[in-house]
Amino acid sequence: MSGVTWLSHRATGPLGGEIVVPGDKSVSHRALMFGAIAEGVTHIRGFLEGEDTRATAAILGKLGVRFETPSPGERVVHGVGLHGLRGSTEALDCGNAGTGMRLLAGLLAGQAFDATLVGDESLSRRPMRRVTDPLAAMGASIDTDDGKLPLRIHGGARLRGMTYRPPVASAQIKSALLLAGLYADGATEVIEPHPTRDYTESMLKAFGWPIEFSPGRARLEGGHTLRAVDVDVPADFSSAAFFIVAACVVPGSAVRLVGVGLNPRRTGLLAALRLMGADITVERERTSGGETIGDLVVRHAPLHGVELPLDVVPDMIDEFPALFVATAVAEGTTTIRGAAELRVKESDRIASMAHGLQACGVSIEELSDGAIIHGGGIAGGSIDSHGDHRIAMSFAIAGLVASGPITIGDCANVATSFPGFMELANGAGFQLESQN
Ligand code: S3P
Repeated sequence: MSGVTWLSHRATGPLGGEIVVPGDKSVSHRALMFGAIAEGVTHIRGFLEGEDTRATAAILGKLGVRFETPSPGERVVHGVGLHGLRGSTEALDCGNAGTGMRLLAGLLAGQAFDATLVGDESLSRRPMRRVTDPLAAMGASIDTDDGKLPLRIHGGARLRGMTYRPPVASAQIKSALLLAGLYADGATEVIEPHPTRDYTESMLKAFGWPIEFSPGRARLEGGHTLRAVDVDVPADFSSAAFFIVAACVVPGSAVRLVGVGLNPRRTGLLAALRLMGADITVERERTSGGETIGDLVVRHAPLHGVELPLDVVPDMIDEFPALFVATAVAEGTTTIRGAAELRVKESDRIASMAHGLQACGVSIEELSDGAIIHGGGIAGGSIDSHGDHRIAMSFAIAGLVASGPITIGDCANVATSFPGFMELANGAGFQLESQN
């Protein structure tokens, strides 16, 4: 274990209050990128001040895009137009961000200049052929280190649109191809094995690019123009997820999560928890910038194990670490299958959660594509988050209901997606402290 260590103690009472989690990571990355290559000035509100999204802004800055930060959570992006980016001799560092990396690979594949994309240790282990192979089929010239970073993208390639059916459901793959498609001759079409989040499609439409899309399918043609529009970023459902599960499991809790993005491709966790007996209601539902947002009111309820339906899996891909904690608390056995993608996230999330829960006395069997978790309670223990933000925050929740404290190693990367998590959590009733 290295870096920042946390200690999560059992809650001394119910969790409560109104909680506003930071802005959506997926929307923040895309707003920066589309703002950068649009004509005009894009004003982003609710921007996620996380390390992942700041890395994307820093890269676009190196490529000649000017940003202003009138206040934290706000960015003014001075768009340079579709062909206005300029090359940088420096390597472009995406840090821990898979979304930044895959989407920028698509954006940079169609530029006139060379670029090198690098990332941290975790990102350097993650698979990149899922984007570089189809981009190469469109005519891009990208070298990898046996399918891993660094990506060396050679400028001046002439891209051709194509129809692509990704073998895995991934919004990152889809978005990389659509971004490359902006620069391609003809039509680029992506047909997915299961629909994924459609922020790229809806934001392209909002920026005035003609695009046809429906769940699981998107098609656009090159050669148009993006025109700046203001973007209001909703609160990130994936960050809210930690408080949703925490309120479900700590007796007596009742919390309100304010203004959360409720895109249906993101909210599978609500379906999963409701199947387990959770008490979650949506209030003040409204539409903003084409996205549904609402307040989530979550009250403690006894949970029971379930056989998780396969069709909710892609709609809750980032929420599995938190769900694992809920299943460990639940009465009975939960079976999760069809989630092999978890093995190629910021860590191997099936292994990270299985080892961590085992260290806290939970009986859990790892499957190649999921796990069988025997619920009934969590003991204290010491776990390694493997530098994975969502693993660290999930064990902070586990500590709330564990019979002894949980020590969580390697927590610094929580700042990639959720700056201020500890303060917000303690304000809601967590007993979380940093040991450094
Ligand atoms: C994201 C897509 C998902 C998700 C990630 C954000 C996006 O990855 O895990 O945190 O913004 O497009 P995949 O599309 O690779 O599953």
